[in-house]
Amino acid sequence: MGQTILVTGGAGFIGSNFVLAWVVRGGTVVNLDKLTYAGNLGNLDSLKGDSRHVFVHGDIADGALVRLLLTQYQPGAIVNFAAESHVDRSIHGPEDFVQTNMVGTFRLLEEVRAYWQALPGAERGRFRFLHVSTDEVYGSLGPHDPAFTEGTPYAPNSPYAATKAASDHLVRAYHHTYGLPTLTTNCSNNYGPCQFPEKLIPLVIQNAIQGKPLPVYGDGSNVRDWLYVGDHCEAVRVVLERGKPGETYNIGGNSERQNIDVVKTLCRLLDELHLSSPMRPHEKLITFVADRPGHDRRYAINDNKLKRELGWSPRVTFEEGMRQTVKWYLDHQDWVQQITSGDYRQWYEKNYKERKAT
Ligand code: NAD
Ligand code: TYD
Repeated sequence: MGQTILVTGGAGFIGSNFVLAWVVRGGTVVNLDKLTYAGNLGNLDSLKGDSRHVFVHGDIADGALVRLLLTQYQPGAIVNFAAESHVDRSIHGPEDFVQTNMVGTFRLLEEVRAYWQALPGAERGRFRFLHVSTDEVYGSLGPHDPAFTEGTPYAPNSPYAATKAASDHLVRAYHHTYGLPTLTTNCSNNYGPCQFPEKLIPLVIQNAIQGKPLPVYGDGSNVRDWLYVGDHCEAVRVVLERGKPGETYNIGGNSERQNIDVVKTLCRLLDELHLSSPMRPHEKLITFVADRPGHDRRYAINDNKLKRELGWSPRVTFEEGMRQTVKWYLDHQDWVQQITSGDYRQWYEKNYKERKAT
């Protein structure tokens, strides 16, 4: 796909990894991002001065701006990463989640629908709207339940998951009602370079480097499926290029782990890779803290459909991806210092003050 695409949220964790990969393959991206606390143009420094990347600071809920960009750049596809994405923040303040994930996606869909309907025949047929979503819309699994499939009924439990589920439903309705050629992907937990250090893996790495407690919610036995971000970006590209309009595709890493095991793996890697650390063994920093309200027990993804129909499989193993990620954070402490502003420190105080060690 050589033509221009419009990416939203392309200055965030997954979006910036996607934009970089897309441009490396020779594509052109118009990148619309509101630059919330989670958006960071530093992630895209290597594209400075590159005409294949056009950055636009703005909100997906700004219909006039979206219309202008669609008219001006005539993208052949939209990839919608823009979202409020952190479950704990959604518990403290759900309103931003409703605004961006629901209202924002709605406004984006409205503008895209009008644009798509006016396209000439062949371009109209090729056009795609890809919506990036999460496995959290499916709710929580018991230890022996089968993994989520594309047919699993939605049962979102956190305000974050509920607003993502609502956006998925809107996307589905725009296909069903108007025929908009949509694709939806539901992916498991990502990790890798440029993830904001409020999420488990970068938070643990960062705290360990700084000798701070490593906060494990509850007893640490909650399970997530982990996927290296580069593999997720590749899956999104494959779905965009070969997915069937109106379909949804699960994306998973086939790497279910209990949180405590993830944290111990990170500690072992830091013991090995951070030789000058006075904190070794880092496991002594592990601290069990009060659980997250409504904490989902387990997520697991069945992505046979994507493998069977589109031939995608993850390439990076959990062990290799974790090693790469720890190395990346050790080598990019300047990046971390830049993005962990006063806002981040305030958030940290608020979230962890009420989670006293148990
Ligand atoms: P992130 O929080 O790192 O980045 C989100 C980006 O969206 C930021 O750059 C932010 O500035 C931008 N943004 C927020 N509101 C906006 C608005 N109204 N208009 C324009 N831009 C806005 O998130 P992420 O982890 O990169 O996740 C990207 C997408 O992937 C999200 O839709 C998320 O639900 C989904 N997802 C994430 C994971 C994960 O593990 N991180 C897993 C599955 C799916
Ligand atoms: P997170 O990275 O916030 O992703 P999500 O909630 O979307 O799955 O959290 C991953 C898991 O780690 C989740 O079960 C909550 C847990 N967790 C902790 O134990 N301690 C922490 O400080 C954080 C941020 C998360």
